[in-house]
Amino acid sequence: MNILELIEKRYTAKKYNANKEIPQEKIEDLKQILRLTPSSINIQPWKFTFVQNPEMKSKLASVSMHNTEKINQAQLLVVFSVADNLDAFENEVVNEFPQFRKEMFHKIKTYNSEADLKIWLAKQVYIALGVGLTASAAMGLDSTAMEGIETDKYKTILNMKDYKPLFAMAVGYGAEEDANRLEVTPKSRRVLEDVVETI
Ligand SMILES: Cc1cc2nc3c(=O)[nH]c(=O)nc-3n(C[C@H](O)[C@H](O)[C@H](O)COP(=O)(O)O)c2cc1C
Repeated sequence: MNILELIEKRYTAKKYNANKEIPQEKIEDLKQILRLTPSSINIQPWKFTFVQNPEMKSKLASVSMHNTEKINQAQLLVVFSVADNLDAFENEVVNEFPQFRKEMFHKIKTYNSEADLKIWLAKQVYIALGVGLTASAAMGLDSTAMEGIETDKYKTILNMKDYKPLFAMAVGYGAEEDANRLEVTPKSRRVLEDVVETI
């Protein structure tokens, strides 16, 4: 299958087969893949929390709005968090960067408000979501990106101090009866000519 066919085939799973296990090596590959996500000035302001433990997954599912059932059924939940304590991030991560990148971060920090800086960092984490969704499909797994989670409650449950959850991704095998499967609900997108310009 070429990459276009792969992307045409991926869809957002709304129901999972709770009994079909993901081979652990695929989960380990996904960890490596997310770590390799590119980011502006290679800043890598993220934490990826892999939740397979059913009790922890169920706790998080209970504070996940309309996504509760999916998270309980899916074998894996990945929580994507962003560095939120910027001083701690600078001390622990940025200080280990090569000099020129350290200076770049300092400049960005000096010339932007904290709010803008945090928006910029969060954008980098979204790149990892794109990588994660595509990689899951490439590994024959189904997935669900989920902004519909109570991030403050996630932060408390996960006992996070310097990072803040932004969104999550459920991963597993989509259920046969999932009405969001492409056979039932074909992909819906704006037409190519409206979103792509060729000059
Ligand atoms: C950042 C982001 C957040 C999303 N949040 C949710 C969510 O909380 N629950 C859900 O069921 N789908 C969620 N989706 C799935 C989108 O609705 C879906 O990707 C879109 O409708 C396109 O459909 P497709 O992924 O099946 O091609 C989210 C997608 C993205 C990219």
